[in-house]
Amino acid sequence: MSNGIGTNRDQWGTRAGFLMATVGSAVGLGNLWRFPYIAGEGGGGAFLLFYLIIVVILGFTVTMAELTLGRHTQLNPMGAYRSIKKKWAWVGRMAILTAFLIMFYYCVIGGWVLKYFVAFLTGQFGGSNLAASKALFASFTGSTFEPIIYTAIFLLATLAIVYFGVSRGIEKASRVLMPTLFVFLIILAIRAITLPGAAEGIRYFLLPDFSRMDSQTILTAMGQVFYSLSLGMGIMITYGSYLDKQSDIVSSSAFIPLADTVVAILAGLAILPAVFVFGFQPDAGPGLMFVTLPAVFGQMPLGRFFAVLFFLLVLFAALTSTISLLEVNVTYLIDEKKFSRRKAAIWATLLIFIFSIPASLSMGSWADIHFLPGMNFFSSIDYLTSNIMLPLGGLLLCIFIGWVWGVDNAVKEITNDGAISFRMVSLWSFLIKYVAPLFILLIFLNALGII
Ligand code: PFF
Repeated sequence: MSNGIGTNRDQWGTRAGFLMATVGSAVGLGNLWRFPYIAGEGGGGAFLLFYLIIVVILGFTVTMAELTLGRHTQLNPMGAYRSIKKKWAWVGRMAILTAFLIMFYYCVIGGWVLKYFVAFLTGQFGGSNLAASKALFASFTGSTFEPIIYTAIFLLATLAIVYFGVSRGIEKASRVLMPTLFVFLIILAIRAITLPGAAEGIRYFLLPDFSRMDSQTILTAMGQVFYSLSLGMGIMITYGSYLDKQSDIVSSSAFIPLADTVVAILAGLAILPAVFVFGFQPDAGPGLMFVTLPAVFGQMPLGRFFAVLFFLLVLFAALTSTISLLEVNVTYLIDEKKFSRRKAAIWATLLIFIFSIPASLSMGSWADIHFLPGMNFFSSIDYLTSNIMLPLGGLLLCIFIGWVWGVDNAVKEITNDGAISFRMVSLWSFLIKYVAPLFILLIFLNALGII
């Protein structure tokens, strides 16, 4: 079994390419938009400290567990679970379903980002104040056809990359998009922290303020770590399944969470100081990126240039994340339903597009149609995936690796039967068997409102 069950799979061409693609999946809207405002709200440096501790404990441990399961089985998430314990196949199937569902709304936001990029590039925006910016966002997202068209274009871009496969599509694109994103982000962070009066925003983001923390903060931080690192929905299993047996999972599992966290912190530095300098409040939710920031750019010298840079970088971040979400579905259809890659990619995209329509309409004519109590389609999917399916998938993964497959088998895979050194074996085993499941159980119960 350890020689891999799936055969003739595409593989990563280079280690750098694999790392760019996995970091590309992790770095997304979660880092650029959600992280800065929840860090600010949660007590700045105090939140950051918790976040970092959780990244080290959970991020490293679970990333490694997923990559190991993927590399061992060389299969899609469902096949991976099933090949080790038949009864567990449904857990893999749930992970794939989670990725499928997340796509419904994630690509709608991708469409919005594309629209903002185009609008700033062509000079349709600029010089706007907060009220104008708010009105623009509401009228764009509330309209019927335009956001759906942008969603479709964004999805087609995702499809175009996944269509060409792992090494020729995903890896090639990630090797260009990720370094560009990083350079843009550094430029924007430098611009923001050198604005006169930036100190207030930097203080808000980085100085620990325990009065802004409450019992929810640590749980919010845990949920954010999962979402931000793309854990619990089979993505790292899938990307791990394209690794060859010689690859070093240990250092990759440290690099991916580290890079993702660096990007999140840089995003905070690029966004919050600028918001304060121009006298705005760091709004929570979509408002920060699509209402407050456009107004900030409207007032900043050379604002249009920085806005184009910013929305292009968000576009790249979103795209490398949707690529990974689509790929999880595609690899399932290839392995389990014997589709060709092209057919799988096209069908999955088409289905996702159909379901993204109600997600888009949730901002307009379908705003009051509820699916879960009090929630429209968009919020229902977001709630169901982020608060329920994701922590459940993560919890079951830890139990599976720690107790069903067994840490000894996992360690054998990680070290290639002892060929690669892994000095933290006992620490990792303890974390995956006891600490991680307990942590995740807490997030889960909190998400359900039980604690
Ligand atoms: N990790 C991505 C982000 O932070 O935006 C989002 C994401 C990608 C979430 C893939 C879930 C996922 F399966």
